[in-house]
Amino acid sequence: MHPDGSIAPMSGRTSQERWSIIGTQPVIPLNNGVELPALGFGVFQTPPDVTQAAVEEALRVGYRMVDTAASYHNEPEVGAAIAASGLRRSDLFVQTKVWVSNYSHDGALHAFDVSTRKLGVDYIDLYMLHQPLPQDFNATVGAYQALEQLLGEGRVRAIGVSNLSVAHLATFLPRVSVVPAVNQIEAHPYYNQPELRREHARLGIATQAWSPLGGVYVYRPGDADAVKNALTDPAITTIADRYGKTAAQIVLRWHIDSGRSAIPKSVNPTRIAENLDVFDFTLTADELAIIDALNTGVRGGPNQDAIDFRTLDRTIPN
Ligand code: A2P
Repeated sequence: MHPDGSIAPMSGRTSQERWSIIGTQPVIPLNNGVELPALGFGVFQTPPDVTQAAVEEALRVGYRMVDTAASYHNEPEVGAAIAASGLRRSDLFVQTKVWVSNYSHDGALHAFDVSTRKLGVDYIDLYMLHQPLPQDFNATVGAYQALEQLLGEGRVRAIGVSNLSVAHLATFLPRVSVVPAVNQIEAHPYYNQPELRREHARLGIATQAWSPLGGVYVYRPGDADAVKNALTDPAITTIADRYGKTAAQIVLRWHIDSGRSAIPKSVNPTRIAENLDVFDFTLTADELAIIDALNTGVRGGPNQDAIDFRTLDRTIPN
């Protein structure tokens, strides 16, 4: 614990990775002073018909950050759960993303209006570009400039990006005014992107891990080349046994102790609660290094530079 009350991850990594505690949950200070809860609830791949129940359960057991996206097609159900929770808006951290079909200045402003209406909120805590369009960086920058405008107008508390690589950041940053507060990227034990995270630390961008448990591999069961399930890796289960925790809890703690925000997805009430029960222990620097060393460098999600954008879903309902 530092004298200022914040605590550093035991690995003592970069200054960007300092974090503090509000209430009972750790938060990561963003580059504009806004505090991002380290752990949030993800709804990627959660079908709309089960989203409301899952988010209601998550909020009931204590999650205070929810991550969705226009392209997940479940913003209305997330909004219904927020409304049903009875929580004050100011006690929640709501993040969503602009989809590529709205990548222009006016398109992104329109997307913001649609997302806030669906979510039933009048501001977004963290509004992100869903991914770069490397083949149309002008559109990517145009959409981000709309986010900058929303930030200036106080309609979002922080703005960010998702799935930008080191090379994308190098192209992107000279063309924008506000350094993104967050880059949400694929990060889990078998793919943890150390070079990109070092660049984030240098630039003052917080790292948020999508598919933090490595569920992205589960989504591709037919892919023989997909890396296997990290939750059964002996390196992780050995640490889990040491703490009387599950492998998923160890992986989430690894993210948090490394200064990353993580947004695990689950539709199962037991696992929803399990994934939040990670605030009563910390990993040692050696344990963090053991998990870091599992990195295969093989991503589970798409390579942004290889996507054919003509095949992307352009049917976000307004
Ligand atoms: P389910 O929704 O049935 O719980 P990620 O967020 O890394 O993509 O991982 C999500 C995947 O991992 C989903 O398949 C989810 O299934 C599963 N999952 C979520 N929490 C746990 C957990 N604590 N233990 C095992 N699997 C989990």
